Amino acid sequence: MKLHPHEPPRVELAQLPTPVVELKQLAKRQGVHRLLMKRDDLTGLELSGNKIRKLEYMVAEALAQGSDTLVTHGGVQSNHCRATAALCARLGLHVRLILRSAGVVPEMDGNLFLDSLFGAECSYHSPDEYTSKLDELVAESLAQEAMSGRKPYFFPVGASVPLGCWGYIRCVAELVEQLGCEAPIDLYCATSSGGTQAGLILGRALFQCEKWSVRGVPVSDSSDYFRQKLSELVRETIGLYSLNLLPEHTPIELVEGYIGEGYAIPYPTAIETIRLAGRYEGLVLDPSYTSKAMTGMFADMATRGPDRVPVFVHTGGAFGLFARKDLLA
Ligand SMILES: Cc1ncc(COP(=O)(O)O)c(C=O)c1O
Repeated sequence: MKLHPHEPPRVELAQLPTPVVELKQLAKRQGVHRLLMKRDDLTGLELSGNKIRKLEYMVAEALAQGSDTLVTHGGVQSNHCRATAALCARLGLHVRLILRSAGVVPEMDGNLFLDSLFGAECSYHSPDEYTSKLDELVAESLAQEAMSGRKPYFFPVGASVPLGCWGYIRCVAELVEQLGCEAPIDLYCATSSGGTQAGLILGRALFQCEKWSVRGVPVSDSSDYFRQKLSELVRETIGLYSLNLLPEHTPIELVEGYIGEGYAIPYPTAIETIRLAGRYEGLVLDPSYTSKAMTGMFADMATRGPDRVPVFVHTGGAFGLFARKDLLA
């Protein structure tokens, strides 16, 4: 079913709708009357997590353009790259991943192990090279693919472009079905490339859930950076798809102070949150995103009124934990 007259086409790949569950043990432990989780870690196994919702739209555009190859980039343990590799294998497409890696030969573990299992063609680049030469690396990969007779389609890290934002607009439509618009809900998610939070913000506005608040926890960059990045992404999406929304319908709300020393650098409270989620709910959080987001949520929900219902959007990433088992040893 179409969400909105201007919703772009999508290829159905994820297991949707994902369930909403009560976290009774964690709620008791954190002293709140109710704590819910949207299990977007269950969008699939290989295709798990938030990325696949966005990729459903990206891949539809790629196929419509006649592309047979997807090119994208991210960190060496990127969930986005792994989900892209898995969907390419499933759809019979070639995939090329440009990966940022501190070591020259990265360890084949976690998501990278799966990238290789799914047949992705990977190149590895030092953080300096990746940051300073990304545009050149992408152009080079696209040219090489074209020279090999393939038709590549490129999308940037996290698929956080207006088309990808539809993934989390759709997630809000599911939440409205599951929880109704009238409940005083605080939705929490990890924010990194921004498309997840931008989609939730747009969905909240489109489905007129005025009592909801969308509270992103930055895990990679400063709140100032995200205020600007999210405003731009939301504004571009509204413009591109002629959504009838004003800036006051799409407030940017961020829970600051939970990045730690930087992206993918864990810190003790976030590691403790991984332990708590495992011990009290049998849930797996990851070291880069969901552990920091849940740590931020625990602190933030204590400052909200007692009538508010926190809903954690579990965006997946479990494979990343396997590459960092040392944290819990
Ligand atoms: C497991 C996980 N959670 C959250 C995020 C953040 O989502 P976004 O990039 O849309 O901000 C990512 C993105 O890399 C992710 O892999």
